[in-house]
Amino acid sequence: MTAQIIDGKRIAAELRARTADEVARVKRDHGLMPGLAVVLVGNDPASEVYVRSKHTQTQAAGMASFEHKLPADVSQAALLELVGKLNADPAVHGILVQLPLPKGLNTEAVIAAIDPAKDVDGLHPNNAGRLAGGLRALSPCTPLGCIILTKSVHTSLEGLNAIVIGRSNLVGRPLVQLLLNENATVTIAHSRSRDLPGLCRQADLVYAAVGKAEMVRGDWIKPGATVIDVGITRIPTAEGKTRLVGDVAFDDAMQVAGAVTPVPGGVGQMTVACLLVNTLRAACAIKGLPAPAV
Ligand code: GUN
Repeated sequence: MTAQIIDGKRIAAELRARTADEVARVKRDHGLMPGLAVVLVGNDPASEVYVRSKHTQTQAAGMASFEHKLPADVSQAALLELVGKLNADPAVHGILVQLPLPKGLNTEAVIAAIDPAKDVDGLHPNNAGRLAGGLRALSPCTPLGCIILTKSVHTSLEGLNAIVIGRSNLVGRPLVQLLLNENATVTIAHSRSRDLPGLCRQADLVYAAVGKAEMVRGDWIKPGATVIDVGITRIPTAEGKTRLVGDVAFDDAMQVAGAVTPVPGGVGQMTVACLLVNTLRAACAIKGLPAPAV
C-alpha cells in the first residue's frame, strides 16, 4: 500500500478561489479593497521569485498589491520610515517584509515596527504572544497552510500525537501553538533532541521543518501517519542537474505513511494562499467588519 499524496496545489487553488469570492463580496457590500504591501530588500533570487508570486496571486484574488523594492545597502532608518508610511496608509491592510533581510539590518526591530493589525506574517511579538496565549491573532502563513493540509486528511486533530521538528519563529513555534489550539498532543523536537527517530515513530502527525534534505527516513514514520513536509532544498542530481527535495525521504515515506505532502506541490503552494487569507482578514478587522468566511 502506498500513501495518499496530499495535493497542496489543488487545495491552495481552492483556497485562493474562495478568498477571491470573499474579496469580491467585501468590495461589493462594503466598498473595501483589501491591499497588501510587500517589501523586498536586496536581490536574493529566491526572495525575488517569492515576491513576484505574491504580487501575481494578490492581484489575481482581486486585491491591491503594492511592491516596494529597496537596495541591499538601505539604512535601517530608511526601512523603518517605509514601514511607518505603510502603517499609516489606509489603502494598505497587510504588510510583509520579505525575510531574510540583508546583513546589517535588524530584523527584530523591523518586525516590531509593523502595526500588529497589518502584520500578515504573524511575526510581531503581539501576534506571536496572542497566538501563544490562545487569543485571536494573525498567524504565520506556512503553519496555517500546514493545518489546512492536515485537515484535508483528518476532520479533527483532537488527541492525535503530533511532532514538530524545528523551532523557528516562522514555522515550528507558531505551528506548535496552532496544533495545541486544535487539541493535538504536541512534541517539539529540534537539533538537540535525543532519539529523534524514536520520538517521530510515536507521532500520528509529523511536521518536518528543519531545512535538511531528506532527513526524516521511512523507518522514522509510524505506519499510517500523516506527514507534512515544510522543507525545500535544491540538491544536485547524478545527471548534473538539480532537483527540489523536502525534509522527508519522500519515496520511503510513501511506503509507510498514510498521507504525505510532495515537494514541490505541497506546503509551498499553501503559504501564499494563506497570506491572501490573512490580508483579507486584516482588512475586515481594520474596517470593523465581521471575519470573512475563509
Ligand atoms: N521568507 C520565506 N518565507 C517567508 C514568509 O513566510 N514570510 C516572510 N516575510 N519571509 C519569508
